[in-house]
Amino acid sequence: MKHLATILSIVATSVIAIACSDSDDNAAKNDNLIDIGDGESIELTEEYYAGGVLGTVFNNTASAYEQPTPATEQGGFSQAFQNGEYLFERDFNQNKDGAFKGLGPVYVRNGCIYCHPGYGHGKRQTEYRASTHGNGYLLVIYDKQTEAYIKSVAGMPQTMAVQPFKAPVDESLIHIEWKDYTDEWGNRFPDGETYALIYPEVTIPQEAFYAPIIVTRGGQNVEVSIDEIGVKLESTIGVYGTGLLDAIPDDEITAQWEKESDYFNSIGKTDALNPAYWDQANKQWVSYYKGLTGVNYVRRYTYAMSRGPLLDAAGANAIWNITNVTRSDRRYHYLDLNYRTRPSPTMQRSHRKTPRCRLSSTTTSPNGTRQATWRRTSTTT
Ligand code: HEC
Repeated sequence: MKHLATILSIVATSVIAIACSDSDDNAAKNDNLIDIGDGESIELTEEYYAGGVLGTVFNNTASAYEQPTPATEQGGFSQAFQNGEYLFERDFNQNKDGAFKGLGPVYVRNGCIYCHPGYGHGKRQTEYRASTHGNGYLLVIYDKQTEAYIKSVAGMPQTMAVQPFKAPVDESLIHIEWKDYTDEWGNRFPDGETYALIYPEVTIPQEAFYAPIIVTRGGQNVEVSIDEIGVKLESTIGVYGTGLLDAIPDDEITAQWEKESDYFNSIGKTDALNPAYWDQANKQWVSYYKGLTGVNYVRRYTYAMSRGPLLDAAGANAIWNITNVTRSDRRYHYLDLNYRTRPSPTMQRSHRKTPRCRLSSTTTSPNGTRQATWRRTSTTT
């Protein structure tokens, strides 16, 4: 089957990577392979429709990853798509009413688009600034001994705050250094061509933390020194095509795992599929993604393929925990209670002029998220 398209572009669910070569010959071969024409009408063969005819769109402009698929439009979801775009692209604010209200008291970003620029993934950063468009980093601050998140900042640590609150981490002190890396092949392809690799090393000094650093070890909360914690950066993944993934029924995803189990079992590779998720021998799920609603879902999102459907996982959750905007089904904040229950002497000194607030009551919600009520206490000037 052949289809006519005016311009080429992106495929909603898949990305094709073509390795480049210095040789003109190879370059010419590659050009033939992915010839996208001259921007005028060209005919495309079926394989270009990697997301299916209804799931593949053609656009080679800067908005390539932002448009609805034919399935969205033909299914009558154009308005819903635009509503979603609106929520994704706008900044939330501190107002008590009106559109996009309720930001804070502490928050990770003003909105989604900061971390998913153009609906894609983030750009490499040499500093961590929550207001930089394209900074797709989430901080992962962990206990080196247990590898678990530290307790005294939220799992997704906030570096922004609405006055008079202070952010748990002062982002201006976060240091990102890019270092050279040599891999096991000495950064060299078999044909002799070399390549360079870099990786980030992130450090946060003690004075960047607003409260003492607390970790949980053996069920106890323990205060630790800065040397006992590490920092990683988690970067964004593009969100284009996630609606199409959401449309796949759980049963069909399970059927695919069964099919792959049959294949790997038949060739004697009995440990091919992730044992934390799936029992390859008995062909059944070992664990599900349990959303905040308590329902079990088959996993399908994130790099680790660890999360369930958009409306109860990455996406719907982000609106709440990135901005800290509460809503009718989540009447509590995303934050950690160690923050501000014990003021750090260092921060007390350096923020003397800041009105201080503390938590006046805390409870634990059914899903284990701690809830807090904030009360302004006094100024320390
Ligand atoms: C602080 C940066 C940040 C912000 C802001 C952010 N995200 Fe993400 N998002 C991430 C990261 C990092 C991942 C990848 C997580 C992983 O793979 O474990 C991700 C993954 C996702 C995914 C899963 C994509 C996939 O293919 O698996 C969706 C959907 C998503 N985000 C939607 C949103 C929405 C909607 C918003 C706004 C309400 C938002 N994100 C705001 C950092 C961010």
